[in-house]
Amino acid sequence: MKVLGIAGSTRRGSWNSKLLDSAAELLPAGTELETWDGLKEIPPYDEEDDVQPAPAAVEQLRAAIAAADAILFATPEYNSSIPGVLKNAVDWASRPLATNPLRNKPVAVVGASTSAFGAVWAQAELRKVLAATGARVVEGEVAVGHAPKRFDTDGRLSDAELREQLAEVVDLLVQEAQPQQVLTAA
Ligand SMILES: Cc1cc2nc3c(=O)[nH]c(=O)nc-3n(C[C@H](O)[C@H](O)[C@H](O)COP(=O)(O)O)c2cc1C
Repeated sequence: MKVLGIAGSTRRGSWNSKLLDSAAELLPAGTELETWDGLKEIPPYDEEDDVQPAPAAVEQLRAAIAAADAILFATPEYNSSIPGVLKNAVDWASRPLATNPLRNKPVAVVGASTSAFGAVWAQAELRKVLAATGARVVEGEVAVGHAPKRFDTDGRLSDAELREQLAEVVDLLVQEAQPQQVLTAA
């Protein structure tokens, strides 16, 4: 099973990228996390540019989402909301609405910020936006507040409680992505 990790930050040293790396360590055997690093190349959304083929970076994003069994987003919070670059990428991924690659895709959202609250508002808004695209949004939240204090010098999430919460969210996401068993009457 393949989980695609999308961080809502393009910053080298991003806490949210580190959060995805920590999630990768918590995945069950047989599951891998591949991080998508094309966020900075995604152009501003313009319906006139949303034609076939779409801009190369957008095609690559849509293909990466389509090829994944599940998506784990790690978002910072900018001015109490989703960073514009991440919202822009989700807008591109959401079209065409009826057949977009997020439709029916299991997704989970976690987040880290330098303030006390761990990007809870950005996470809530991102869940709302993802639900609007037709994604299957898994419940569960990891809010890494005061991020610089929550990772060790190797960049691993070091707070035991937060690691446990992250493991739970990852578990729920992987469960949601398991092929559904069809029960047949005996
Ligand atoms: C434009 C801007 C707005 C921000 N607004 C918030 C905010 O509303 N809430 C918050 O907790 N942190 C806010 N921050 C601080 C971010 O949490 C911090 O920069 C964080 O490290 C970004 O995530 P990253 O490390 O993954 O890049 C803001 C930062 C920037 C640059």
